Amino acid sequence: MTPPKGRGGQRSGDRQQRPRGAGGAGRGGGNTRRSQPTRPKPEPQRPVVDVHDPDGVRLQKLLAAAGVGSRRVCEDLISQGRVEVDGQVVRELGVRIRATQVVHVDGERVQLDESRVYLAFNKPLNVVTSMSDELGRVDIGDYFGDRKERLFHVGRLDADTEGLLLLTNDGDLAHRLQHPRYGVLKTYLAQIPGPVPRDLGRRLREGVELEDGPVAVDSFKVVDSQPGKAIVEVVLHEGRKHIVRRMLAEVGHPVQSLVRTQVGPVRLGDTKPGKFRALSSTEVAALYKAAGL
Ligand code: URA
Repeated sequence: MTPPKGRGGQRSGDRQQRPRGAGGAGRGGGNTRRSQPTRPKPEPQRPVVDVHDPDGVRLQKLLAAAGVGSRRVCEDLISQGRVEVDGQVVRELGVRIRATQVVHVDGERVQLDESRVYLAFNKPLNVVTSMSDELGRVDIGDYFGDRKERLFHVGRLDADTEGLLLLTNDGDLAHRLQHPRYGVLKTYLAQIPGPVPRDLGRRLREGVELEDGPVAVDSFKVVDSQPGKAIVEVVLHEGRKHIVRRMLAEVGHPVQSLVRTQVGPVRLGDTKPGKFRALSSTEVAALYKAAGL
């Protein structure tokens, strides 16, 4: 997970403060021909960002509508140089942009496009993670099929797993959240036969060999351990099919029931099975950050 740290280097303010030629002429102390005046290197050309789109909407209005703060607060953020549009700091008040342009406040992505939808669904048991199941079983489409947006489900849960499934029409974000490269963590609560042996966490952290390669948890916690029944929390960034069930079966603790409680920064919370909620703008910004966008 790479937070957009590199962005700072793109800020126009940073560029101005960077000493020109640092690490160049003086590096190693061996350059003695200093009398030759050197021409200042031209600033690298950056694409000009159009922030005066006559068909656009005022930046502070879009920011306020996205829940960043009141218009006044948003104006202050702009004046303080804390707002970037398509990678460039914008300090001028009254600029007009399109909601589809990429805006960051203090380095965090703010989604201004109101047509973007981000939902947290508590998938019930016996619901197939598909928008249209070929076998006619109850699927996600039965819950979201009549919405006007084309929603993608972010990853899959088995029919016999319940819990958090994110849905969005933001294809880039959905793709990144599923890709193991971005290492977005998923948290599961698994019921397994108890009691849990002391070394189970260590074994899972060290990694278990499965038929399609090794898998290791990012973290493991025993929530409850009784003689017949235990609850364990497993966190991993893997997205392979049946991965939690296969991993726990491999170490001799077959899963009896499984719930996903968190994806990246988003928690299932108290959303009941079969219900969904819209993510807050803070949650969306945190998801973007988790996905390195
Ligand atoms: N791992 C599983 O075994 N099942 C799921 O549904 C998700 C992760």
